[in-house]
Amino acid sequence: MSYLLEDFCEDCSLSLANSEMPQEEIRRSMEKLLSETDFIEKYFSSEAEVGINVIHEDDKTGFQVLTHIYANGKESPPHDHGTSWAVYGQAVKHTDMTIWRRTDNGANENQAIVEPEKTFRLNPTMAGIFEIGKIHSIKFPDGARFLRVTGTNLNKITTRSYNRDECREG
Ligand SMILES: [Fe+2]
Repeated sequence: MSYLLEDFCEDCSLSLANSEMPQEEIRRSMEKLLSETDFIEKYFSSEAEVGINVIHEDDKTGFQVLTHIYANGKESPPHDHGTSWAVYGQAVKHTDMTIWRRTDNGANENQAIVEPEKTFRLNPTMAGIFEIGKIHSIKFPDGARFLRVTGTNLNKITTRSYNRDECREG
């Protein structure tokens, strides 16, 4: 039996309500969903509209499921997701993820000094967790597409991005 977006969203809700490690369960569920060719065809085909689309928002907890469809490759600055966690899962092509760590004492709210800690690649069907407060950056080629679940609507909370050269809040 195929695993549908609706099944995934229900599993996310159950994980958030019952699990001590909900993000890890969501990561595993996401890899299952991304292995479904029908799901990939429906949401990530070459005809999919370029942009970031919310395909589900949970009534109770507010978690969101988003598709990211890109025509052109991009490299983001290091950024966090404020008070939210995020799980990223690759649908088409790949995304290189870099985790950054602060090398200052964290006392200055408006400035951070960061250095790269590790980089890993998400290939199709692979998903990765970014915990609350983690700083990461993403880099992907033309035509890359990925799925993302965030704990809440990131447009409603404060997130920070960091200037790669000066390591200041940008
Ligand atoms: Fe991010």
